[in-house]
Amino acid sequence: MKRYLITGASRGIGRAIAEKLAADDAMLLLHGRDTVALAQTCKSVEPHCAKVVLLVHDLAKPSALSDLIAEAGKEPIDLLVNNAGVAVVKPFTEITTIEWEQTVGVNITAPFMLTQHFAPRMPPGSSVVNILSIAARTGFPNWSAYCMSKFAVEGFSQSVREELRDRKIRVINVYPAATDTNIWDHIEGDWPRGKMISPEEVASAVAYALSRPTDVTLENITLSSLVGNL
Ligand SMILES: NC(=O)c1ccc[n+]([C@@H]2O[C@H](COP(=O)([O-])OP(=O)(O)OC[C@H]3O[C@@H](n4cnc5c(N)ncnc54)[C@H](OP(=O)(O)O)[C@@H]3O)[C@@H](O)[C@H]2O)c1
Repeated sequence: MKRYLITGASRGIGRAIAEKLAADDAMLLLHGRDTVALAQTCKSVEPHCAKVVLLVHDLAKPSALSDLIAEAGKEPIDLLVNNAGVAVVKPFTEITTIEWEQTVGVNITAPFMLTQHFAPRMPPGSSVVNILSIAARTGFPNWSAYCMSKFAVEGFSQSVREELRDRKIRVINVYPAATDTNIWDHIEGDWPRGKMISPEEVASAVAYALSRPTDVTLENITLSSLVGNL
């Protein structure tokens, strides 16, 4: 049985990936913070996969990562999806220390620590998927903390990809443009949801990359709406 760990699976892109990857031969280790939302994901995927394990941890807290790793168990995993993320959107002069620390904890430290722990234990043919953003390559006004965190994981994952190549582990980076999820609920401004791509489209791209033969790697996937970036 394959074991897939997806962070931020309680909603949005993470939930869509969990739903897309649910299969009879797969155990899904689904991470989130909101127990009610995570239970909804569980209800949706449980009939379609071998087993579901829920991992509830606030990744902004320093102890969360070691707790999550311990709960995930000693068996190797075949797929790590670094998806959980937060977006603090405001002028850089107004970003508080707490907001900065949360951004670093969830968007940078979590993918670093989880990849560092799980990747060395993965069998050949496994994959690490990083849900980055077009903001991993381009700066946008008021998105400084978010862009900085995504640029950081871009650099990390490019290096790790080369370190894991000989072990036949693929590092797949995904760069969605604006995607219609709850992340926009707390971002000030008028964001046209109708012009955004759907989380299911991002999940389909992830599933396609993972479905390639294990000696083929679809390394970078950029997805955007044909109407252009918002
Ligand atoms: N939506 C977009 O336009 C877009 C575009 C490009 C890239 N992305 C990236 O896609 C990823 C998923 O975002 P989304 O759009 O699906 O957003 P979302 O609907 O807000 O989901 C974010 C997920 O991250 C989890 N998360 C946030 N803070 C956390 C914390 N402190 N501890 C643990 N988990 C935490 C949430 O868990 P709980 O809800 O359970 O707290 C949730 O499962 C993020 O990395 C984001 O940067 C999004």
